[in-house]
Amino acid sequence: HLACPMNALPRGGPLRSVQEVWEEFSLSFTPAVREVVEFARHIPGFQNLTQQDQVTLLKAGTFEVLMVRFATLFDVRERSLRFLSGATYSLPELQAMGMGELLSSMFDFSEKLASLNLSQEELGIFTALVLVSADRSGMENASLVEQLQETLIRALRSLILKNSPNDTSRFTKLLLRLPDLRTLNSMHSEKLLSFRVDT
Ligand code: HEM
Repeated sequence: HLACPMNALPRGGPLRSVQEVWEEFSLSFTPAVREVVEFARHIPGFQNLTQQDQVTLLKAGTFEVLMVRFATLFDVRERSLRFLSGATYSLPELQAMGMGELLSSMFDFSEKLASLNLSQEELGIFTALVLVSADRSGMENASLVEQLQETLIRALRSLILKNSPNDTSRFTKLLLRLPDLRTLNSMHSEKLLSFRVDT
């Protein structure tokens, strides 16, 4: 099996080749990846970045955007995880599939994000910020990306201050989720790599 919630069929039939497993898996995650690309196009200023920098940010940041987008698949109270197929698995079932430390880090992240009760608008700007804050190594025009990041940070801060004037820590707490996403991204990349090597 392929134990990632982006997989619609984590426990498909027994006699499938590695190729078939990957083909089915890519059918289930490709639409989500396309949505990220589409979302990026609608970030004001994103299309003013060089073509190459847009690609670099999307490569580095798509997982992080998807993590925010699909954080609600993790049911913190029930300790269960819903896959894209809609099938829900309990923690012991997930552990039996081989999930472990990364899974629990994702539960922690989802819990912290949910506790901030972001509105749709706040979540939208935050998600744009996540993409623009992706790994900057090899940027052609880093200062243009930085300007865009600063614009998004200012927009997010004023929106959050407007929405919750009595909770001054809310903005800071939200920004602290950015390094969490970096960590999850690198842990998840290792899983992805070792899956490809093992199979
Ligand atoms: C594990 C691929 C996005 C959550 C994995 C594995 C692969 C993979 C190959 C290893 C599976 C195994 O060893 O059986 C991908 C690809 C993604 C993607 C190609 C992007 C399109 C995501 C997202 C989330 C996620 C957005 C969270 C919302 C997980 C979890 C595991 C996992 C929880 C298992 C962690 C553990 O073993 O503790 N993923 N994934 N993945 N992925 Fe993904």
